[in-house]
Amino acid sequence: MIIYFTGTGNSRDIATRISMMLTDDDIVELCNETLRSGVISAKRSCDKVVWVFPVYSWGVPPVVAKFIKRADIQGIEGAEHHMVATCGDDAGLIANQWRKLISNKGWKAASVSTVVMPNTYTLMKGFDVDSEILAKQKLEASGERIAVIVERIKRGATDDDVIKGRYAWIKSRIIYPWFIKFAMSPKPFHAIDSCSGCGLCARQCPLGNINMDKDCKRPYWGKECALCLRCYHICPIGAVQYGKATKGKGRYLNKNRS
Ligand SMILES: Cc1cc2nc3c(=O)[nH]c(=O)nc-3n(C[C@H](O)[C@H](O)[C@H](O)COP(=O)(O)O)c2cc1C
Ligand code: SF4
Ligand code: SF4
Repeated sequence: MIIYFTGTGNSRDIATRISMMLTDDDIVELCNETLRSGVISAKRSCDKVVWVFPVYSWGVPPVVAKFIKRADIQGIEGAEHHMVATCGDDAGLIANQWRKLISNKGWKAASVSTVVMPNTYTLMKGFDVDSEILAKQKLEASGERIAVIVERIKRGATDDDVIKGRYAWIKSRIIYPWFIKFAMSPKPFHAIDSCSGCGLCARQCPLGNINMDKDCKRPYWGKECALCLRCYHICPIGAVQYGKATKGKGRYLNKNRS
């Protein structure tokens, strides 16, 4: 069984390709319904669970961590759990955090791997999407990387094959908790005047956190936000902004995301 969370489609793309290579048809997205209920039932009993999600501030996205803590997954008794994280650059000590979450559930944590994919984070000074050339290079390289990861999952590897990056301890142990506390607010999200009121951002939010106002003219954001940035990247006319931080920044969506 593959369980994935995605904002702009990179993790869905990787999850789908892994699923095809494992000839496993059980693939579940963590979104509104599953996140709310915390319940997943495997279609048939399975011996491997593969978790696929993006790296957020050198750690597990809080929405995924919260889900793991309360998850009730039927049909996975005795299964090995593998983690595959997609990241723009590096993942710090994410492996330790995920292993702890999994073992606290009494589950068996096996391998941890990362795949470099195009960057999606744009909400702070100095952070932007990759150039088209770099994004293309990362996507091209991902095929070979997935083959390696699938081989690791198939043989039941139990080690980490992770790009930790420099200063991993500071990034995961100091910056990650700070980021969660102070840099994940959805409050700065807004639509600028050019918004056409098409409602795409509201329909696409994986947490159902965006509603249209009563005249269906403008979106407004609620408090249940994963900061996945799908609403920002998916607006066809670039009308979603995050305070002033996203002014002039680029947009990216994985082409294989649906
Ligand atoms: C809130 C947020 C934080 C991120 N933090 C990191 C990070 O610490 N390291 C990194 O390499 N990429 C980081 N990224 C980039 C994503 O992990 C990467 O682009 C990923 O492939 C996006 O996957 P998705 O399309 O499935 O959402 C971050 C993206 C977001 C939205
Ligand atoms: S997707 Fe863009 S144009 Fe459409 S409602 Fe949302 S902000 Fe407005
Ligand atoms: S409001 Fe935007 S950033 Fe927050 S969860 Fe929904 S799509 Fe993602």
